[in-house]
Amino acid sequence: MAGGFVAFSGDSPAFQAKMTVYVFICVVIAAVGGLIFGYDIGISGGVTAMDDFLIKFFPAVYERKKQAHEDNYCKYDNQFLQLFTSSLYLAALVASFFASATCSKLGRKPTMQLASIFFLIGVGLASGAANMYMLIMGRILLGFGVGFGNQAVPLFLSEIAPARLRGGLNIVFQLMVTIGILIASVVNYLTSSIHPYGWRLALGGAGIPALILLFGSLLICETPTSLIERNKTEEGKATLKKIRGVEDVDEEYQSLVHACEFARQVKDPYRRLMKPHSRPPLVIGLLLQLFQQFTGINAIMFYAPVLFQTVGFGNNAALLSAVITGSVNVLSTLVGIFLVDRTGRRFLLLQAAVQMLSCQLVIGIILAKDLGVKGTLGKTEAMIVVILVCVYVMGFAWSWGPLGWLIPSETFPLETRTEGYALAVSCNMFFTFVIAQAFLSMLCAMKSGIFFFFSAWIVVMGLFALFFVPETKGVSIDDIKDSVWKRHWYWKRFMRQEHDV
Ligand code: BGC
Repeated sequence: MAGGFVAFSGDSPAFQAKMTVYVFICVVIAAVGGLIFGYDIGISGGVTAMDDFLIKFFPAVYERKKQAHEDNYCKYDNQFLQLFTSSLYLAALVASFFASATCSKLGRKPTMQLASIFFLIGVGLASGAANMYMLIMGRILLGFGVGFGNQAVPLFLSEIAPARLRGGLNIVFQLMVTIGILIASVVNYLTSSIHPYGWRLALGGAGIPALILLFGSLLICETPTSLIERNKTEEGKATLKKIRGVEDVDEEYQSLVHACEFARQVKDPYRRLMKPHSRPPLVIGLLLQLFQQFTGINAIMFYAPVLFQTVGFGNNAALLSAVITGSVNVLSTLVGIFLVDRTGRRFLLLQAAVQMLSCQLVIGIILAKDLGVKGTLGKTEAMIVVILVCVYVMGFAWSWGPLGWLIPSETFPLETRTEGYALAVSCNMFFTFVIAQAFLSMLCAMKSGIFFFFSAWIVVMGLFALFFVPETKGVSIDDIKDSVWKRHWYWKRFMRQEHDV
């Protein structure tokens, strides 16, 4: 998962808390989980564009690539090649359900440690792969790491962050994901010229952050919420004092105890999620994941080098362009951090929908007109395509990217918050899997039409945001029902079933 934060009740900024050095160290170590996720997203495209890798595992794709002038759009279309990328997300989807259980039963810290162990074994298998099965097994274990990491890390971070910094920290996790993607594209660029094992180095690179997470996690604490949840109340209180850097934590401690007691009374949160009054956050939380993926962003993130080669760039130029889009992604996420609490969520979603739609349409038109199936793109057109891809990535990075995680984290009520969030995470993994598995075949079947396909989705999601996504900027997360849902022209009808509430 890319991640986000689950914002918890008891958010009152009145709680005494300092931003301690210890919390800072914990945040940095835990956020390495986001970095690994981003690295995995970014590395696949570069590796699948490397000839040595293709010759070893996908000789048929390599042969087709050599005949590239015969069909620009289909040279990489191979179900196994796509399985290499997508297997990770399917594994992550399954793993996130196990991870939500280990998070509650064992704690956030052991779940993160499990994640780093899965990552390490996965990296070993994938980078040392002697055959396809080792390679896919490696990717599956990496997926388990992503599933465990993405469930535990955001929870961990939100629970140790001082309340007033929680919102900003939410998007910092997404920032780490984008930095991971960027590092991967630089690694792809550097290792592509190392023959014949550059791809092994690229895949092995994830081992470094995985080791940092494994050893770093020995330094960090368990969260007070998790300790109190598991009846270790004294330890919970002591940890709270340590991370807040103040002696008087009674108020926050009491609110955590209450929150845990109340949450314990809800015996079946998943069932509660199916009740009508849970519908607004559930429908919005799940649809945002579908929409986030159907912006087409991962078609770019996974396959940027492949895509740039498709539109006529050479091997290295294509990898370099991916470095450029990666940098744009990181910088624009910073813009998102700055704007989200100023302009609000809806403005960003709507503004970016227009921006992304225009870029997709123009790219589609240029490719349809100038590239055709067998032609090549002129230098100017190719440059324009890269610029448009950058502008498109910008829009995503300050809107549908981070907000896809932020909005579900702030709209579920406490008693169903972690479960609702876990459903959103697995839904995201599912659609990420769908895009990873289908994109190259879709590119082959639809040709430049793929850009019109994503454009159509952007129109749908823009309209959805316009009519159904309410503004949650500045609203206290425990007041969402009264201030937001009960006043919304459509969602208010689900709030009338008082017997459900
Ligand atoms: C998405 C990822 C995507 C990334 C790009 C995240 O919010 O969940 O699927 O690759 O953004 O920066």
